[in-house]
Amino acid sequence: MNYRIALMEGDGIGPEQSAAAKTVLDDAEVNFDLSIELIPVEAGDRAAKNYGVALPEGSLATLTKCDCCLKGPVGNSAYDVIVRLRQLLDLYANVRPARALPNVPSLSSQTDLVIVRENTEDLYIGLEEGDQQKATATRLITRKASERIAKFAFDMARRRRKTVTAVHKANVMKKTDGLFLSACREVANSYVDIDFKDMLVDAAAMNLIRKPDSFDVLVTTNMFGDILSDEAAQVVGGLGLAASGNIGDSFAIFEPVHGSAPDIAGKNIANPTSMILSAAMMLDWLSEHNGDKKAAAASHAIRHSVETCLSAGETTPDLGGKLTTTEMADAVSRRISQRVIA
Ligand code: NAI
Ligand code: MG
Repeated sequence: MNYRIALMEGDGIGPEQSAAAKTVLDDAEVNFDLSIELIPVEAGDRAAKNYGVALPEGSLATLTKCDCCLKGPVGNSAYDVIVRLRQLLDLYANVRPARALPNVPSLSSQTDLVIVRENTEDLYIGLEEGDQQKATATRLITRKASERIAKFAFDMARRRRKTVTAVHKANVMKKTDGLFLSACREVANSYVDIDFKDMLVDAAAMNLIRKPDSFDVLVTTNMFGDILSDEAAQVVGGLGLAASGNIGDSFAIFEPVHGSAPDIAGKNIANPTSMILSAAMMLDWLSEHNGDKKAAAASHAIRHSVETCLSAGETTPDLGGKLTTTEMADAVSRRISQRVIA
């Protein structure tokens, strides 16, 4: 297969992480006989500065002609870029895995969960008004979007440990979260093979720390998923490892969970793993959509090589290692080649 992938470098540590992902994808391409064309797409704070808009029309046009997109984090323009793209392209499922990795401090070495976050509605639709004395925000929850994300989560649980936890605050937000919970319960009725529970979001935040290995798939609304996924990332070692996919029916954008990390930008010390594992998620998605076993094998090799590097302590300073971003990408890349030769 010939893949055309939009590469949005992003801001802050984004370009450093994108270069790292490119190194690894180049190796995967050679070793697994893939054909990957990375097409640069400008968006984010730099685009806003250069063109006056964070997501130029030309970028959007290029993006939608590609098979999918790999995106680095953007800065202050995050709402105008990624939140807008999620809504515009109907990338309704935000998939955020949190799995304990070798040699990385974790609250439980058995942790292996996925947060499935509804990605198009909730308080993130941008309907806010008010002034410095009083402000209001509109929270949109529809049955259609709630059922759709619930089905996505249940289908995913079927391929995993067959448990779904719906996270909500229906005891307080009776209309909005009441509707979300009712949709999840209704969908649960047609997945009798899946164990279904629901949990209030505050209890879920506590249980993610107390017993993270008790979760399999969590399904939740947009803002709760945003917050809980940063927490889940920290449970298994930090944001530098956290990858995600924004998935729709025919397009998807893969990106790190974190932001542009201005505090460490330009120093070549950002952990590239979040971006490299986002690229691995992308290859899995391409594999599923195209029945391409080579892409799945490449994804598997990338994950395995990342884990081997972590085991050997070949990491960036956030995990106690001494490598730069570039060196860690090279180390992952080398292990992909070694694995293929071995
Ligand atoms: P952040 O997620 O960028 O950083 C939080 C902390 O984690 C910082 O101390 C940072 O150094 C550390 N960190 C993040 N990624 C790391 C990595 N790969 N390796 C090592 N350490 C890492 O959050 P912050 O500072 O609140 O936001 C910065 C900007 O990012 C904001 O302008 C925000 O709007 C934007 N943002 C963009 C997102 C996107 O593009 N999807 C998502 C979240 C935030
Ligand atoms: Mg977030």
